[in-house]
Amino acid sequence: MYKSKLPKLNNCTIGIIGLGYVGLPLAIKIANQKSCLLSKKRNNRKVIGYDIDKDRVNELNKGIDKKNIFSKKTISIPKNISFTSHKKLLLNIEVFIITVPTPINTENQPDLSYLKRASKIVAECIKEKDYKCINPIIIYESTVYPGVTEEICIPLIEKISGKKHNCKNYNDSFYSGYSPERINPGDSNNTLDSITKVTSGCNKKVASWVDKFYGSFISAGTYKASNIKVAEAAKIIENTQRDINIALVNELAILFKKLNINTKDVLDAANTKWNFQKYSPGLVGGHCIGVDPYYLTFKAKEIGFNTKLISAGRNINDYMHKYLFHQILSQLEKTKKVMKLVDVLLLGISYKSNCGDIRNSQLISLVENLKKENMKITIVDPLVNKDEVFNKIGLISVDTIPSNKQYSIIIFALNHKEFKKITKKEIANISNENTLIFDLTNNLSGEKVFNL
Ligand SMILES: NC(=O)c1ccc[n+]([C@@H]2O[C@H](COP(=O)([O-])OP(=O)(O)OC[C@H]3O[C@@H](n4cnc5c(N)ncnc54)[C@H](O)[C@@H]3O)[C@@H](O)[C@H]2O)c1
Repeated sequence: MYKSKLPKLNNCTIGIIGLGYVGLPLAIKIANQKSCLLSKKRNNRKVIGYDIDKDRVNELNKGIDKKNIFSKKTISIPKNISFTSHKKLLLNIEVFIITVPTPINTENQPDLSYLKRASKIVAECIKEKDYKCINPIIIYESTVYPGVTEEICIPLIEKISGKKHNCKNYNDSFYSGYSPERINPGDSNNTLDSITKVTSGCNKKVASWVDKFYGSFISAGTYKASNIKVAEAAKIIENTQRDINIALVNELAILFKKLNINTKDVLDAANTKWNFQKYSPGLVGGHCIGVDPYYLTFKAKEIGFNTKLISAGRNINDYMHKYLFHQILSQLEKTKKVMKLVDVLLLGISYKSNCGDIRNSQLISLVENLKKENMKITIVDPLVNKDEVFNKIGLISVDTIPSNKQYSIIIFALNHKEFKKITKKEIANISNENTLIFDLTNNLSGEKVFNL
């Protein structure tokens, strides 16, 4: 009879599967941590960052990160890390951490294809290797609805690898854990290192291993959830709660506009009460807040439960870019402008401030609608990948405001740090008394400024 043996905390080989916003900082953090924060023991860890995107791997090997995750042109790569898209290099991995995308499809349903593909890759690797001495641990970090790890990913790995999950006295068993990532791109205060890491494992011993592992390099410490489903659900409700809070102020903003009441003034007044939670109306995009609630509603539906509030929040927030578009059209109607003569300046195209990610950006949807009206649109966003923007909407984005023209509409869409340098004089030079100003950043006020 064999006794299971977990990898050595300080001396193990770690494979990060998926080198995006979550995987890359994690890989670099683990590799850079020279001693354990808990035991102070020296670490002798090797990290292999694996991604199916060969271009991404080639760029990372040159120190280039086109996602600008660290807001630096080049990143320094620790010696004990290597980036690859060759599966073979994963054969000696003892701890797999899966950080691949979990988007939604066109029907707003979970698209688990990336997760399944990553699980398949891991399964093929553990199948190849005879883990006589050490049983590998597979930790998922991708955001999922409760049950995905244990009911979908693990059975898939068991089937492909032929190995048994969580089987104490079995030579070739493997173990699993779940630790959601909670980073907030574009936010330099709340980072991987400063956010408590929720951890979990498939049994007590593994949960404790996973917790100690993250505790060994996350300064903010860890929180050991009672099981994997709890950890999965905790992550998903964090973003669901935020989605609903924003949906409420968005609905109020639409109502107050109809009542001719200034929403910001109302929120400022209400905020003087000790237990009022202040949120601002806005466009919810990206791959977390605008996506995660759909994972939860999907799971609820699967068991026959109708989530009324969560779904209502999603509907409201998904509608906001159309609401903004209609606001723009209705203001233009008053000026009786011919649409093809309308020049729009859009300051920001990514899904949120100080972040270059354009996935699920509602500003992209807004531009698509403005384009259908034949308006000419100038997009300024120094943070985004220009090729990505062009491939998505067929328009070239620029880093700075072209100063040779006057615009009919200026939309202050995002609060990128770079936009703080824009002066009033600069705006005065590119606008006139008929220019319509739309401000989604809550920085501008005045009779001529339209807010959400
Ligand atoms: N970005 C965030 O702010 C954030 C925050 C918290 C949680 N999350 C969650 O983390 C997960 C990853 O998000 P992200 O933003 O890092 O995604 P991302 O798109 O930035 O990166 C994912 C990477 O995985 C790679 N990939 C896809 N399939 C693969 C496979 N089978 N094998 C290896 N690599 C593969 C892609 O090429 C890409 O480089 C998602 O579930 C997301 O919801 C993201």
